[in-house]
Amino acid sequence: MVVAGVIGRFVGHGKAGVPVRGRWRARAGKGSEVFGDRLVVVTGAGSGIGRATARAFAAHGAEVVCADIDGAAAERVAGAIAGELGGTAHAAEVDVANIDQMEDFARNIIVQYGVPHIVVNNAGIAVAGSFFDHSVDDWRRVLDVNLWGVIHGCRLFGAAMVERGEGGHIVNIASLAAFAPTRLLPAYSTSKAAVKMLSDCLGAELAGHGIGVTAVCPGFVSTPIAGNATYVGADLREEAVRGLARRGYPAERVAAHILRAVHRNQAVVPVNAEAKIGYTLSRISPGLMRRLARWSGGTRNQQKFR
Ligand SMILES: NC(=O)c1ccc[n+]([C@@H]2O[C@H](COP(=O)([O-])OP(=O)(O)OC[C@H]3O[C@@H](n4cnc5c(N)ncnc54)[C@H](O)[C@@H]3O)[C@@H](O)[C@H]2O)c1
Repeated sequence: MVVAGVIGRFVGHGKAGVPVRGRWRARAGKGSEVFGDRLVVVTGAGSGIGRATARAFAAHGAEVVCADIDGAAAERVAGAIAGELGGTAHAAEVDVANIDQMEDFARNIIVQYGVPHIVVNNAGIAVAGSFFDHSVDDWRRVLDVNLWGVIHGCRLFGAAMVERGEGGHIVNIASLAAFAPTRLLPAYSTSKAAVKMLSDCLGAELAGHGIGVTAVCPGFVSTPIAGNATYVGADLREEAVRGLARRGYPAERVAAHILRAVHRNQAVVPVNAEAKIGYTLSRISPGLMRRLARWSGGTRNQQKFR
């Protein structure tokens, strides 16, 4: 997508933004307006966890920028926030993996609406299959979106938050996969482990600026991600889609954890039972986690490499 397209497709819904805002944590209100007068950017807001997070922040009074590579989906979510919730939302089409688009996106938001108080780097994709079935392009795309997309968001908006000097919060969506190895998701898990470590490093650096950094690590959440994923080697799409649907953990509950994490300035938030168990086991018995990883997935590669 050409750079001009990003600007052209930057569509506003609801009332105009307020460019100058106070140090957000000190001025947080009460009840449903707890994020009132706050500007929140959510990437991957067209679906799943991002969509639920944008809606939740808007429901608590925030002005929200819904960004997604699928501009039409971003517009639908922003439109619904303005319509159903009576909130203020803007839509933007941007590929988080593309540095030029991200630079334009960040610049446009800051010029039009001000420096965001909260940025949720949520956009992500999955590739599932064995290590040897992943092509170099599979690795590149997963790392470009899941890791570089988060790095771009942190660099561009984090620098603006520091410069403004009024604090803020960055939420990076990692995963249970950040600390639970599996034979099925080598590239995805690597990207998420990196996002978790990036969040810890950045949190240390930004603490002195009043900017919190949270790594949110959900287990299985019932979103379209399994249907949107790429499967290499064995085609596990149907199984994965059914499995996530059966898990019955809604994106709205992840969104509630995200809002609470920002409010409480939490560093790491494992969401739901499997993520909490995985996080605890990874710290007290990493050897057990490695043994469990051998049993994850089918037998295709055992047969292939025996
Ligand atoms: N669903 C789960 O079980 C689960 C578990 C742990 C972590 N996560 C993470 O949560 C995040 C959201 O996933 P979800 O389950 O809501 O998935 P989803 O597929 O429902 O939504 C992902 C959104 O990101 C957008 N997107 C994809 N690539 C993009 C890009 N390059 N630039 C901008 N937007 C892009 C998609 O268009 C989509 O709207 C991801 O980072 C994912 O890895 C999901």
